[in-house]
Amino acid sequence: MLGGKSGQAIQKAMEILVALGEMYGAACMLPVTSVQIAGVSYDNLGEAGLAWLDAMAVGGGKVRTLTTLNPAGMDITNWQTLGISPDFAVSQMRVIDAFARMGVLTTCTCTPYLTGNLPHFGEHIAWAESSAVCYANSVIGARTNREGGPSALVAALTGRTPAYGYHLDKQRQPGVTIEVSARLQTTDEFGALGKAIGLKLNGVNAKPVCYICGIPHADLEQLKTFCASIATYVGAAMFHMEGITPEASTHKPPEWTIPITQADLEASHQLMNDAMPDAVDFVSLGCPHLSIREIAHLAELLNGHRVKKEFWITTARPTKCMADQMGYTAIIEASGAKFAVDTCCVVAPIKGRFKVLLTDSAKACYYASSKNRFKTVLRPFDDVIAEALR
Ligand code: F3S
Repeated sequence: MLGGKSGQAIQKAMEILVALGEMYGAACMLPVTSVQIAGVSYDNLGEAGLAWLDAMAVGGGKVRTLTTLNPAGMDITNWQTLGISPDFAVSQMRVIDAFARMGVLTTCTCTPYLTGNLPHFGEHIAWAESSAVCYANSVIGARTNREGGPSALVAALTGRTPAYGYHLDKQRQPGVTIEVSARLQTTDEFGALGKAIGLKLNGVNAKPVCYICGIPHADLEQLKTFCASIATYVGAAMFHMEGITPEASTHKPPEWTIPITQADLEASHQLMNDAMPDAVDFVSLGCPHLSIREIAHLAELLNGHRVKKEFWITTARPTKCMADQMGYTAIIEASGAKFAVDTCCVVAPIKGRFKVLLTDSAKACYYASSKNRFKTVLRPFDDVIAEALR
Protein backbone atom coordinates (compact mmCIF):
# COMPACT_ATOMS: atom_id res chain seq x y z
CA MET A 1 0.00 0.00 0.00
CA LEU A 2 2.81 2.34 0.94
CA GLY A 3 4.56 1.67 -2.35
CA GLY A 4 1.52 2.86 -4.34
CA LYS A 5 0.48 -0.50 -5.86
CA SER A 6 -3.06 -0.06 -4.51
CA GLY A 7 -3.47 3.42 -5.96
CA GLN A 8 -2.83 6.99 -4.96
CA ALA A 9 -5.52 7.35 -2.29
CA ILE A 10 -4.46 4.18 -0.47
CA GLN A 11 -0.80 5.25 -0.64
CA LYS A 12 -1.67 8.62 0.92
CA ALA A 13 -3.79 6.86 3.55
CA MET A 14 -0.97 4.50 4.50
CA GLU A 15 1.53 7.37 4.66
CA ILE A 16 -0.71 9.05 7.23
CA LEU A 17 -1.01 5.84 9.30
CA VAL A 18 2.75 5.24 9.21
CA ALA A 19 3.40 8.81 10.38
CA LEU A 20 0.86 8.34 13.17
CA GLY A 21 2.37 5.01 14.17
CA GLU A 22 5.88 6.46 14.25
CA MET A 23 4.71 9.43 16.31
CA TYR A 24 3.19 7.13 18.97
CA GLY A 25 5.88 4.44 18.81
CA ALA A 26 3.57 1.71 17.48
CA ALA A 27 5.32 -1.63 16.95
CA CYS A 28 3.04 -2.72 14.10
CA MET A 29 -0.24 -2.18 12.28
CA LEU A 30 -3.41 -3.97 13.38
CA PRO A 31 -6.29 -5.06 11.14
CA VAL A 32 -9.54 -3.25 11.99
CA THR A 33 -12.99 -4.82 11.70
CA SER A 34 -15.07 -1.66 11.99
CA VAL A 35 -14.70 2.08 11.40
CA GLN A 36 -16.86 5.04 12.37
CA ILE A 37 -15.96 8.40 10.84
CA ALA A 38 -16.68 11.77 12.50
CA GLY A 39 -16.43 15.27 11.05
CA VAL A 40 -19.29 14.70 8.62
CA SER A 41 -21.18 17.95 9.05
CA TYR A 42 -20.36 20.51 6.36
CA ASP A 43 -20.59 23.02 9.22
CA ASN A 44 -17.34 21.52 10.63
CA LEU A 45 -15.67 20.38 7.39
CA GLY A 46 -15.99 23.43 5.17
CA GLU A 47 -14.64 23.49 1.59
CA ALA A 48 -11.12 22.42 2.61
CA GLY A 49 -12.39 19.24 4.29
CA LEU A 50 -14.69 18.50 1.37
CA ALA A 51 -11.83 18.94 -1.13
CA TRP A 52 -9.74 16.39 0.80
CA LEU A 53 -12.58 13.84 0.81
CA ASP A 54 -13.10 14.41 -2.87
CA ALA A 55 -9.41 13.87 -3.61
CA MET A 56 -9.46 10.54 -1.73
CA ALA A 57 -12.57 9.43 -3.66
CA VAL A 58 -11.14 10.54 -7.02
CA GLY A 59 -7.83 8.82 -6.17
CA GLY A 60 -9.64 5.48 -6.08
CA GLY A 61 -10.14 5.17 -2.32
CA LYS A 62 -12.54 2.35 -1.33
CA VAL A 63 -13.14 1.20 2.21
CA ARG A 64 -11.94 -2.29 3.16
CA THR A 65 -14.06 -2.73 6.28
CA LEU A 66 -17.54 -1.97 7.60
CA THR A 67 -17.64 1.83 7.88
CA THR A 68 -20.40 4.20 8.98
CA LEU A 69 -20.62 7.95 9.59
CA ASN A 70 -21.25 10.25 12.54
CA PRO A 71 -24.24 12.64 12.34
CA ALA A 72 -24.24 15.08 9.43
CA GLY A 73 -25.35 18.72 9.54
CA MET A 74 -28.91 17.93 8.49
CA ASP A 75 -31.57 15.29 8.03
CA ILE A 76 -30.69 14.04 4.56
CA THR A 77 -34.31 13.74 3.41
CA ASN A 78 -36.21 16.09 5.70
CA TRP A 79 -33.93 19.13 5.91
CA GLN A 80 -36.50 21.73 4.76
CA THR A 81 -38.83 21.02 7.72
CA LEU A 82 -35.92 21.69 10.07
CA GLY A 83 -35.19 25.09 8.54
CA ILE A 84 -31.86 24.20 6.88
CA SER A 85 -30.88 26.49 3.98
CA PRO A 86 -30.76 25.05 0.41
CA ASP A 87 -27.10 26.17 0.05
CA PHE A 88 -26.09 24.22 3.13
CA ALA A 89 -28.10 21.20 1.94
CA VAL A 90 -26.25 21.13 -1.40
CA SER A 91 -22.84 21.28 0.32
CA GLN A 92 -23.81 18.63 2.88
CA MET A 93 -24.96 16.28 0.12
CA ARG A 94 -21.60 16.70 -1.66
CA VAL A 95 -19.94 15.45 1.54
CA ILE A 96 -22.28 12.45 1.79
CA ASP A 97 -21.72 11.69 -1.88
CA ALA A 98 -17.92 11.68 -1.48
CA PHE A 99 -18.20 9.14 1.36
CA ALA A 100 -20.66 7.01 -0.65
CA ARG A 101 -18.23 6.90 -3.61
CA MET A 102 -15.65 5.39 -1.23
CA GLY A 103 -18.10 2.67 -0.18
CA VAL A 104 -18.90 4.12 3.24
CA LEU A 105 -22.40 3.24 4.51
CA THR A 106 -24.01 6.66 4.75
CA THR A 107 -25.85 5.87 7.97
CA CYS A 108 -25.07 8.98 10.01
CA THR A 109 -25.19 8.17 13.69
CA CYS A 110 -23.25 8.41 16.93
CA THR A 111 -24.78 5.10 18.06
CA PRO A 112 -23.45 2.79 15.31
CA TYR A 113 -23.64 -0.08 17.81
CA LEU A 114 -27.47 0.19 17.67
CA THR A 115 -27.68 0.00 13.90
CA GLY A 116 -25.51 -2.88 12.75
CA ASN A 117 -21.98 -1.52 13.16
CA LEU A 118 -21.39 -3.59 16.30
CA PRO A 119 -17.91 -4.99 16.92
CA HIS A 120 -17.42 -7.71 19.50
CA PHE A 121 -15.24 -7.99 22.58
CA GLY A 122 -11.52 -7.62 21.92
CA GLU A 123 -11.80 -6.53 18.27
CA HIS A 124 -9.57 -3.71 17.06
CA ILE A 125 -11.60 -0.92 15.48
CA ALA A 126 -11.13 2.76 14.55
CA TRP A 127 -13.99 4.93 15.74
CA ALA A 128 -14.04 8.69 15.96
CA GLU A 129 -17.15 9.93 17.75
CA SER A 130 -16.11 10.37 21.39
CA SER A 131 -19.26 8.92 23.02
CA ALA A 132 -19.19 5.91 20.71
CA VAL A 133 -15.45 5.39 21.35
CA CYS A 134 -16.14 5.34 25.08
CA TYR A 135 -19.05 2.91 24.61
CA ALA A 136 -16.98 0.61 22.38
CA ASN A 137 -13.98 0.46 24.73
CA SER A 138 -15.91 0.33 27.99
CA VAL A 139 -19.26 -1.39 27.43
CA ILE A 140 -18.39 -3.66 24.48
CA GLY A 141 -14.72 -4.25 25.26
CA ALA A 142 -13.63 -3.56 21.68
CA ARG A 143 -10.41 -1.54 21.27
CA THR A 144 -10.14 1.89 19.70
CA ASN A 145 -8.36 5.19 20.13
CA ARG A 146 -10.29 8.43 19.81
CA GLU A 147 -9.72 8.83 16.10
CA GLY A 148 -10.04 12.09 14.24
CA GLY A 149 -12.12 12.20 11.04
CA PRO A 150 -9.06 11.80 8.74
CA SER A 151 -7.39 9.03 10.77
CA ALA A 152 -10.66 7.05 10.86
CA LEU A 153 -11.08 7.43 7.09
CA VAL A 154 -7.54 6.25 6.33
CA ALA A 155 -8.08 3.26 8.67
CA ALA A 156 -11.21 2.41 6.64
CA LEU A 157 -9.37 2.73 3.32
CA THR A 158 -6.51 0.48 4.39
CA GLY A 159 -8.25 -1.76 6.95
CA ARG A 160 -5.39 -0.98 9.37
CA THR A 161 -4.57 1.15 12.38
CA PRO A 162 -1.28 1.55 14.29
CA ALA A 163 -0.96 -0.51 17.50
CA TYR A 164 -0.82 2.12 20.25
CA GLY A 165 -2.98 3.64 22.96
CA TYR A 166 -6.23 1.82 23.82
CA HIS A 167 -5.34 -1.08 21.51
CA LEU A 168 -2.80 -2.13 24.16
CA ASP A 169 -3.55 -3.63 27.59
CA LYS A 170 -1.31 -1.08 29.32
CA GLN A 171 -3.47 1.90 28.36
CA ARG A 172 -6.65 0.16 29.58
CA GLN A 173 -5.46 -0.15 33.20
CA PRO A 174 -7.54 1.92 35.63
CA GLY A 175 -5.72 4.67 37.53
CA VAL A 176 -8.39 5.98 39.90
CA THR A 177 -11.37 4.53 41.75
CA ILE A 178 -14.56 6.57 41.60
CA GLU A 179 -16.70 5.57 44.59
CA VAL A 180 -20.28 6.59 43.82
CA SER A 181 -22.65 6.85 46.77
CA ALA A 182 -25.13 9.05 44.89
CA ARG A 183 -28.30 7.36 43.64
CA LEU A 184 -28.66 7.33 39.86
CA GLN A 185 -31.88 6.58 38.03
CA THR A 186 -32.50 8.82 35.05
CA THR A 187 -30.35 9.55 32.00
CA ASP A 188 -29.78 13.18 33.05
CA GLU A 189 -28.37 11.89 36.36
CA PHE A 190 -25.97 9.55 34.56
CA GLY A 191 -24.94 12.59 32.52
CA ALA A 192 -24.45 14.64 35.68
CA LEU A 193 -22.18 11.87 37.02
CA GLY A 194 -19.83 12.35 34.04
CA LYS A 195 -19.61 16.05 34.75
CA ALA A 196 -19.15 15.45 38.51
CA ILE A 197 -16.15 13.20 37.76
CA GLY A 198 -14.80 15.86 35.39
CA LEU A 199 -15.01 18.47 38.14
CA LYS A 200 -13.13 16.21 40.59
CA LEU A 201 -10.39 15.48 38.05
CA ASN A 202 -10.06 19.09 37.01
CA GLY A 203 -6.37 20.02 37.06
CA VAL A 204 -5.13 16.42 36.63
CA ASN A 205 -3.12 16.54 33.43
CA ALA A 206 -3.03 12.97 32.15
CA LYS A 207 -6.55 11.81 32.99
CA PRO A 208 -6.50 8.24 34.36
CA VAL A 209 -8.95 5.53 33.31
CA CYS A 210 -11.73 5.52 35.94
CA TYR A 211 -12.78 2.40 37.82
CA ILE A 212 -16.31 3.22 38.91
CA CYS A 213 -17.87 1.45 41.92
CA GLY A 214 -21.22 1.75 43.64
CA ILE A 215 -23.58 1.60 40.65
CA PRO A 216 -25.74 -1.51 41.06
CA HIS A 217 -27.36 -1.39 37.62
CA ALA A 218 -27.10 0.59 34.38
CA ASP A 219 -29.10 -0.12 31.23
CA LEU A 220 -28.07 0.56 27.63
CA GLU A 221 -29.60 4.05 27.53
CA GLN A 222 -28.01 5.08 30.83
CA LEU A 223 -24.62 3.80 29.68
CA LYS A 224 -24.80 5.55 26.31
CA THR A 225 -25.57 8.89 27.95
CA PHE A 226 -22.89 8.35 30.61
CA CYS A 227 -20.34 7.53 27.88
CA ALA A 228 -21.19 10.81 26.12
CA SER A 229 -20.85 12.75 29.34
CA ILE A 230 -17.58 11.26 30.65
CA ALA A 231 -16.09 11.63 27.16
CA THR A 232 -17.10 15.30 27.13
CA TYR A 233 -16.29 16.38 30.68
CA VAL A 234 -13.27 14.12 31.39
CA GLY A 235 -12.04 13.52 27.84
CA ALA A 236 -12.26 9.81 28.67
CA ALA A 237 -11.95 7.16 25.95
CA MET A 238 -12.86 4.40 28.40
CA PHE A 239 -13.85 3.50 31.98
CA HIS A 240 -14.56 0.37 33.94
CA MET A 241 -17.78 -0.02 35.93
CA GLU A 242 -17.71 -2.71 38.59
CA GLY A 243 -20.18 -5.52 37.91
CA ILE A 244 -21.28 -3.92 34.63
CA THR A 245 -18.52 -3.51 32.04
CA PRO A 246 -16.70 -6.60 30.77
CA GLU A 247 -13.09 -5.79 31.70
CA ALA A 248 -13.82 -4.47 35.22
CA SER A 249 -13.39 -7.88 36.86
CA THR A 250 -9.90 -8.23 35.37
CA HIS A 251 -8.65 -5.23 37.40
CA LYS A 252 -8.42 -4.30 41.06
CA PRO A 253 -9.84 -0.92 42.14
CA PRO A 254 -6.87 1.51 42.28
CA GLU A 255 -5.91 2.91 45.68
CA TRP A 256 -6.42 6.54 44.70
CA THR A 257 -10.13 6.98 45.43
CA ILE A 258 -12.46 9.87 44.69
CA PRO A 259 -15.96 9.89 46.22
CA ILE A 260 -19.02 11.15 44.36
CA THR A 261 -21.78 11.92 46.83
CA GLN A 262 -25.40 12.89 46.30
CA ALA A 263 -24.38 16.51 46.91
CA ASP A 264 -21.65 16.27 44.22
CA LEU A 265 -24.18 14.90 41.75
CA GLU A 266 -26.74 17.60 42.51
CA ALA A 267 -24.13 20.37 42.27
CA SER A 268 -22.94 19.13 38.88
CA HIS A 269 -26.55 18.82 37.65
CA GLN A 270 -27.30 22.35 38.80
CA LEU A 271 -24.35 23.74 36.81
CA MET A 272 -26.06 22.63 33.59
CA ASN A 273 -29.15 24.71 34.38
CA ASP A 274 -28.59 28.39 33.67
CA ALA A 275 -32.11 29.31 32.54
CA MET A 276 -35.67 28.88 33.78
CA PRO A 277 -37.96 26.38 32.01
CA ASP A 278 -40.29 29.27 31.01
CA ALA A 279 -37.55 30.63 28.74
CA VAL A 280 -37.10 27.38 26.76
CA ASP A 281 -37.61 27.81 22.99
CA PHE A 282 -35.95 24.60 21.76
CA VAL A 283 -36.35 21.03 23.00
CA SER A 284 -34.17 18.15 21.88
CA LEU A 285 -33.93 14.49 22.87
CA GLY A 286 -31.42 12.12 21.31
CA CYS A 287 -27.87 12.97 22.39
CA PRO A 288 -26.55 10.33 21.86
CA HIS A 289 -29.09 9.22 19.24
CA LEU A 290 -32.24 7.68 20.70
CA SER A 291 -32.70 3.93 20.89
CA ILE A 292 -35.95 2.34 19.65
CA ARG A 293 -36.91 1.74 23.28
CA GLU A 294 -36.62 5.47 24.02
CA ILE A 295 -38.66 6.31 20.91
CA ALA A 296 -41.40 3.86 21.97
CA HIS A 297 -41.55 5.56 25.37
CA LEU A 298 -41.60 8.99 23.75
CA ALA A 299 -44.54 7.96 21.55
CA GLU A 300 -46.39 6.72 24.62
CA LEU A 301 -45.96 10.06 26.39
CA LEU A 302 -46.79 12.23 23.36
CA ASN A 303 -49.80 10.20 22.20
CA GLY A 304 -52.80 12.50 21.75
CA HIS A 305 -50.93 15.67 22.85
CA ARG A 306 -49.47 18.73 21.07
CA VAL A 307 -46.00 20.09 21.81
CA LYS A 308 -45.79 23.85 22.35
CA LYS A 309 -42.15 24.37 21.34
CA GLU A 310 -39.78 23.46 18.53
CA PHE A 311 -38.94 19.86 19.43
CA TRP A 312 -36.29 17.77 17.63
CA ILE A 313 -35.92 14.03 18.07
CA THR A 314 -32.53 12.90 16.87
CA THR A 315 -31.83 9.32 15.96
CA ALA A 316 -30.32 7.04 13.32
CA ARG A 317 -32.23 6.35 10.10
CA PRO A 318 -32.43 2.55 10.68
CA THR A 319 -33.91 3.26 14.15
CA LYS A 320 -36.40 5.68 12.58
CA CYS A 321 -37.36 2.93 10.08
CA MET A 322 -38.23 0.68 13.03
CA ALA A 323 -40.26 3.55 14.53
CA ASP A 324 -42.12 3.96 11.20
CA GLN A 325 -42.92 0.26 11.15
CA MET A 326 -44.24 0.28 14.70
CA GLY A 327 -46.43 3.37 14.20
CA TYR A 328 -44.37 5.47 16.66
CA THR A 329 -43.39 8.01 14.00
CA ALA A 330 -47.02 8.81 13.15
CA ILE A 331 -47.88 9.38 16.82
CA ILE A 332 -44.81 11.54 17.45
CA GLU A 333 -45.26 13.66 14.31
CA ALA A 334 -48.97 14.15 15.08
CA SER A 335 -47.85 15.88 18.30
CA GLY A 336 -45.86 18.46 16.31
CA ALA A 337 -42.46 17.08 17.38
CA LYS A 338 -40.02 16.65 14.47
CA PHE A 339 -37.63 13.86 13.64
CA ALA A 340 -34.15 15.15 12.87
CA VAL A 341 -32.64 11.94 11.53
CA ASP A 342 -28.93 11.64 10.47
CA THR A 343 -28.10 14.78 12.48
CA CYS A 344 -28.22 16.29 15.97
CA CYS A 345 -28.71 19.58 17.75
CA VAL A 346 -24.93 20.05 18.06
CA VAL A 347 -23.74 19.47 14.49
CA ALA A 348 -26.69 21.14 12.72
CA PRO A 349 -26.12 24.81 11.80
CA ILE A 350 -28.60 26.34 14.28
CA LYS A 351 -26.49 28.98 16.02
CA GLY A 352 -28.60 32.11 16.55
CA ARG A 353 -31.95 30.36 15.92
CA PHE A 354 -32.73 29.57 19.57
CA LYS A 355 -31.89 30.90 23.01
CA VAL A 356 -32.58 28.14 25.54
CA LEU A 357 -32.28 24.38 25.04
CA LEU A 358 -34.21 21.85 27.16
CA THR A 359 -32.73 18.34 27.08
CA ASP A 360 -31.91 15.28 29.19
CA SER A 361 -28.32 15.19 27.87
CA ALA A 362 -25.32 16.58 29.74
CA LYS A 363 -23.24 16.43 26.54
CA ALA A 364 -25.85 18.43 24.62
CA CYS A 365 -25.75 21.06 27.40
CA TYR A 366 -21.98 21.42 27.02
CA TYR A 367 -22.04 21.97 23.25
CA ALA A 368 -25.25 24.00 23.21
CA SER A 369 -23.49 26.41 25.50
CA SER A 370 -19.94 26.33 24.07
CA LYS A 371 -20.75 26.05 20.34
CA ASN A 372 -24.15 27.67 19.94
CA ARG A 373 -24.20 30.02 22.96
CA PHE A 374 -27.60 28.71 24.10
CA LYS A 375 -28.57 28.61 27.74
CA THR A 376 -29.59 25.15 28.95
CA VAL A 377 -32.14 23.38 31.12
CA LEU A 378 -31.32 19.76 32.03
CA ARG A 379 -34.21 17.53 33.11
CA PRO A 380 -35.10 13.82 33.22
CA PHE A 381 -36.38 12.40 29.90
CA ASP A 382 -40.05 12.29 31.02
CA ASP A 383 -39.91 15.82 32.46
CA VAL A 384 -38.48 17.15 29.17
CA ILE A 385 -41.59 15.87 27.41
CA ALA A 386 -43.94 17.20 30.09
CA GLU A 387 -42.30 20.61 29.81
CA ALA A 388 -42.55 20.60 25.99
CA LEU A 389 -46.31 19.99 26.31
CA ARG A 390 -46.87 22.76 28.85
FE1 F3S B 1 -24.36 12.26 19.11
FE2 F3S B 1 -24.55 14.77 18.43
FE3 F3S B 1 -24.73 14.07 20.94
S1 F3S B 1 -23.11 13.32 17.62
S2 F3S B 1 -23.47 12.25 21.14
S3 F3S B 1 -26.16 13.53 19.31
S4 F3S B 1 -23.59 15.79 20.15
